[in-house]
Amino acid sequence: MAPVPAVCIENVHKRFGAVKALHGVSFNIAQGEFFGLLGPNGAGKSTLINALAGLTRADRGQLNIMGYDVVREYRRARMSVGVVPQELVYDPFFTVREFLRFQSGYFGVAKQSRQWVDELLEVLDLTEKADVNMRALSGGMKRRVLIGQALVHKPPVVVLDEPTAGVDVELRQQLWFFIRRLHQEGHTIVLTTHYLEEAEQLCERIAIIDRGELIALDTKSDLLARGIFRSLHVVASRDIESVPVKVRDKVKAVHGCSMELRLRRDSDSVVEVLDTIRGAGIDVRDIHMEDDDLEDVFIQLTRRSPASETSGGSV
Ligand SMILES: Nc1ncnc2c1ncn2[C@@H]1O[C@H](COP(=O)(O)OP(=O)(O)OP(=O)(O)O)[C@@H](O)[C@H]1O
Ligand SMILES: [Mg+2]
Repeated sequence: MAPVPAVCIENVHKRFGAVKALHGVSFNIAQGEFFGLLGPNGAGKSTLINALAGLTRADRGQLNIMGYDVVREYRRARMSVGVVPQELVYDPFFTVREFLRFQSGYFGVAKQSRQWVDELLEVLDLTEKADVNMRALSGGMKRRVLIGQALVHKPPVVVLDEPTAGVDVELRQQLWFFIRRLHQEGHTIVLTTHYLEEAEQLCERIAIIDRGELIALDTKSDLLARGIFRSLHVVASRDIESVPVKVRDKVKAVHGCSMELRLRRDSDSVVEVLDTIRGAGIDVRDIHMEDDDLEDVFIQLTRRSPASETSGGSV
């Protein structure tokens, strides 16, 4: 029998007044995946995560974590997931260590997790701040504590809602090292981020939601292959003025004799473009091709998102 999915999302709907935050979202995340949940501001990512964490309740549909229904089997589902929330919510009067111990008490693992709390403090570079009140921490440090609190009960599924927002470069690197370690140890990781290069580096499979609907769900490589365009960088012997109009229309950027051309993957021929340039008596000194990255594909998909056409009038 196939192992139970780490996360199972089935036709989930959630409205806030007139806003359809989630509109029939369904997908599964397998155990052990490093999964990216992407989407523009207001797409519904945090709403979905909050529904998974039991912080908000879906109007319709079903959510399971490690096979446990997040409503009917709340306690077991909650034990199976650690959520790093996007919003910084904490009790300002607790010290960092108290806050983490309190959390482990909530999960009934206070005794077993003393050593783990110390390890978390160490990894998150918070040992020095362990006895400082939460309110006296900087924003980035508070976020580290929230990452720690998501992990106190060593949940099999770790959901991180923008964990690196407002975090400095060095800590971001440390965090990714740590999260990769968790992944290697078998944890399922679900990540939302607006740093798409982060998702491109880390995630194996990516879902994109827009206006409450799933608009893409694919492996990273298949998603990248959906790019409509690619870039051709050309260093020519003369400046752009002498390049034929047919090619000039495709030029995105020019620096002296170097230019970047945007070519459609399906219809523009690199050979033809280069022949046209050479045909105008311009030497081509150097070229290199660049495929679109995740950010380009994301912009294409979300801009083209026909959310208003598909969802309008259906409810
Ligand atoms: N508690 C709430 N009350 C009213 N509207 C809400 C509430 N929470 C979310 N919304 C609305 O639901 C929609 C989805 O919001 P959500 O926070 O899930 O987006 P998001 O994808 O996480 O965006 P971001 O990238 O900005 O974090 C938005 O239109 C938002 O204004
Ligand atoms: Mg959000």
